[in-house]
This record gives sequence, C-alpha cells and structure tokens, in this order.
Amino acid sequence: MSSIIQEINPRRIEKITLNNLVVEIGFGNGIYISTLAKKFPEKNFLGIEISGESIKKLVKIIKRENLKNVYCIKLDAYWTFYLFLEDNSIEEVYINFPDPWPKKRHIERRLTTLENLYIFSKKLKTNGFIQIKTDDLNFYNYTLENANLLNCFEIFEYKNFVDIVQTKYEKKWLEKGKDIYTLRLFKIKEPEINVKLKEIRRIKDMAHIKTKKFINVKELENKVFKINENLVVKFFKSYSREDEWLIETLLSENDYIHYFFTSIRKKDEDYVISISSFSEVLKTEGILEFLKWLEKSF
Ligand SMILES: C[S@@+](CC[C@H](N)C(=O)[O-])C[C@H]1O[C@@H](n2cnc3c(N)ncnc32)[C@H](O)[C@@H]1O
Repeated sequence: MSSIIQEINPRRIEKITLNNLVVEIGFGNGIYISTLAKKFPEKNFLGIEISGESIKKLVKIIKRENLKNVYCIKLDAYWTFYLFLEDNSIEEVYINFPDPWPKKRHIERRLTTLENLYIFSKKLKTNGFIQIKTDDLNFYNYTLENANLLNCFEIFEYKNFVDIVQTKYEKKWLEKGKDIYTLRLFKIKEPEINVKLKEIRRIKDMAHIKTKKFINVKELENKVFKINENLVVKFFKSYSREDEWLIETLLSENDYIHYFFTSIRKKDEDYVISISSFSEVLKTEGILEFLKWLEKSF
C-alpha cells in the first residue's frame, strides 16, 4: 500500500473534512478526476473506488503530477458517504459510466439506487449537483425515476454532452457509435421522502473478551453463521502459534464487509478473544456483537 497521505485509510479516520469538495465515484483509471483537479486547483477532489487497481492508478498519477488536491479512498460509495462525509458539504459529484447491472436481480447493486441517491443528495450542498453519464438507457431511466422520487433536484438532461475529458469507457462507447446520456441533478432542497438506510454504528474502543474456555478455531474453518438479521460471518483458514490461534474472518454487517483475523490468545489462566493486532477494522457495534457471539456460542 502506498504511504501518501492522500490515500485515505477508512479504518483510521473519523470524518473527511475537505473544503470546496468535489467527489468522483468509480474513477476507473483516474483520468477524469485528475484532469478536473489540474483545471481547478482551488478545489479538493475525492475519488471513491472499490477497485484496488484503480486506487493504484490514481495514486501513481497523484505522485507523477504532484497533485496536492486529490484524495482517494477504497470503499463502497454508499459507506464512504454514510460514514465519512458531512451533510451539505459537497459541491459536485461525478459518476461516469457506472456498471449498469442490467440484470433484474442485480439492480440493487446499481450506484443510483434510491438509497444511494438519497445519501448522495443529503451530503450535497444546496445548489451543488450530481452528474451522471452513461450509454445505457435503462440505467439512465432508472436513475431519472429515482431522482424524481426524491423530489429535491432540478434535473437537466443532455445527449452527447461534450465534457472536460473523455473517460476510458466514454471513448469505448463512442468508438462503437453509441450515444452518451448525461444527467445533472442540482440539489434545490432536502429530499422529501424518507428512505430506509443501511446503518452501522461506530464505537470508540474495541473491547477484548475474556473467557475461561478455549475456542477451537480449526473447527470453524470454512463455516458460515447468521448471527442475526444484519450480521453474517464466514470463517476461512486458521493458523496457530505458541499461545495464539487466528482465523481469517469475513463479517457482513448490514452489507458493510469487514475482513480481519479473529484472535484467541492465552493469557494466564484465561483466553482473550479479540480482533488480531495484524488487522485494521472499522470499530463497530457489529464487531463487538460478533466477539460476544463467538464467546457465547462455542
Ligand atoms: C465501468 S467502470 C467506469 C470507470 C470510469 N468512470 C470510466 O468512465 O472509464 C465503473 C467503475 O466503478 C467502480 N465502482 C462500481 N461500484 C462502485 C461502488 N459501489 N463504489 C465505488 N466505486 C464503484 C468500479 O470499480 C469501476 O472502476
């Protein structure tokens, strides 16, 4: 991992507070955000991506071009907005050629679900805008429908809008002779409908749990457990050394994915159950619940 401070580690921060903030979601190879950043040095740019490869590409550009006003975070856009960005703090949001998830059963993965558009709009300043570009008319209409439902935007629609730079996907679709559809959603007021949000609650300190019994993590390997409606755990490979046992763990908390090593450590007459010090996690109620569940259940 790069050590530049502009690559934000979501497990080490409380909030992202940047002035004159512009966000690009799903920046791909980084060409769009870096071009904007060079053109508007007085603004700060935050790129959000789930792809590690894309993060590497943008970090390379940041270093090569010595860009001081570009930051990036490797996390799903919903959680970045939900956890780290303040209400009414963003000037512009750009979403260029998001995966359209055309199959019906995958629609809830789209970046412009009602829930996502709601959280994006809450974080947007009044008069700020979200710009969405796509070649996919179904995705476009779906997005337009959700934007209308929120009733907080003035909506502008463009066909083959000429932008500051063509992204990789824009070039690809233009070469194939496709039309490009652009939506600009200007926030004119707060959203008018109540949208049920996926939530996770952060906690200050991560407790360790002491127990008299030994939990044999080897027996948990490759097993999945539903702890409650919002909490599902999957265990992978386990490892042991002198006085510590570790197991690779994936915990889905309301769809937020934690990945860490669970540790069982011998301490005097007790065992301590905790998140391994090798793992960095977002400290949440769900993780605490998981540790308590582990102690209780095995
Ligand atoms: C089709 S590519 C487009 C890349 C670039 N914007 C372009 O126009 O060339 C979509 C990008 O969105 C990213 N992405 C998809 N879902 C995301 C999410 N929920 N949060 C952040 N990034 C996401 C993907 O990793 C991928 O790089």
